[in-house]
Amino acid sequence: MALPTPTKEDKFSFGLWTIGWTGTDPFGGPTRPDLDVVEAVEKLASYGAYGMTFHDDDLFAFGSTDAERQKQIDRLKEALAATGLVIPMVTTNLFSAPVFKDGGLTNNDREVRRYALRKVLRNIDLAAELGAQTYVLWGGREGAEYDAAKDVQSAMARYREGMNLLTSYVQEQGYDIRFALEPKPNEPRGDILLPTLGHAMAFIATLEHPDLVGINPEVGHEQMAGLNFTAGVAQALDHGKLFHIDLNGQRSIKYDQDLVFAHGDLYNAFSLVDLLENGSPDGGQAYTGPRHFDYKPSRTEDYTGVWDSVRANMVNYLILKERATAFRADPEVQEALAQAKVNELATPTLGQGESVRDLLTDASAWEDFDADAYFGGRGAGFVRLQQLVTEHLLGAR
Ligand code: GCO
Ligand code: MN
Ligand code: MN
Repeated sequence: MALPTPTKEDKFSFGLWTIGWTGTDPFGGPTRPDLDVVEAVEKLASYGAYGMTFHDDDLFAFGSTDAERQKQIDRLKEALAATGLVIPMVTTNLFSAPVFKDGGLTNNDREVRRYALRKVLRNIDLAAELGAQTYVLWGGREGAEYDAAKDVQSAMARYREGMNLLTSYVQEQGYDIRFALEPKPNEPRGDILLPTLGHAMAFIATLEHPDLVGINPEVGHEQMAGLNFTAGVAQALDHGKLFHIDLNGQRSIKYDQDLVFAHGDLYNAFSLVDLLENGSPDGGQAYTGPRHFDYKPSRTEDYTGVWDSVRANMVNYLILKERATAFRADPEVQEALAQAKVNELATPTLGQGESVRDLLTDASAWEDFDADAYFGGRGAGFVRLQQLVTEHLLGAR
């Protein structure tokens, strides 16, 4: 098979902080020099990406003067104009500076919460100016190490207050921006608030403008909690809440590895791409937003390795997309899906107009139903289906 070439139509985007990560971790300093934003934009465009995203502090260092900040914005704008790259999403850094050591919107210290809101509002104006339609909030420091240190119910109230303020602001300003909350179970805090996409979606339902708030789930974050990312994303699609997505790779429950997409759980990467591209087997929602990579080019790499990893993310996605198409088109797969009754799940359990009374009087649903036939018989055929996935995934079909 010829390797696919990423193009702008594929809607691949990268965080400036991903390719710009210089390798600093809790155990050692940088292993690579800084990456300039203009080079980042030029390189991403040349590799076939369509967009770049950033935190305020990625573009202009925390504490920059207005002039320094403006200079960087102007340099970014020039590079965007020259390459055609776009900024689909912007986010705020509410986690690096010491002032945010106990978080931003849910910091115990009210003055810090007010300062955090000002930082977000200022950057939303910039996001609108650059045409971004999604504003991500990853609450990395919103949480605690010790139960006694955080009143979680008050923290929820302050999170809600903050989100209500932000949604009102974009409405008042007439900005075409929606928010996406990014869940993560832990790291850097011992426990982070809104730890999974399910927690986040439940929280969103309590907001004043729930239609303006969705989620930005990340592959590795759900997998750090031992959860099935594809299944979570399917539920988010079902709720109309998949506003954005962070793609990367994670190998089991451990620290946030941020590997290249598909360099972690390959089966789950396959089912994810199949879902995002094709929707559920019976025509359920697919995803149309940016395919955004939030990963870290391994600390072992120099810049050759960084750009190799940029390409790897996109190529892996496209290979899986091709594999998913082949999987769906295979007549043997169709037949195995039918045998496994995968599509039958789309049929409502009661007939049209059928009432609970009708069900209670339907002998085929109880009196005549042979439940014993399921012992030693009526196998589901799911293993055969998974083997077909495996053979397609390995390129053997
Ligand atoms: C992480 C997060 C971040 C966020 C980013 C966007 O684990 O560090 O994934 O990379 O995605 O802050 O808000
Ligand atoms: Mn992450
Ligand atoms: Mn992320």
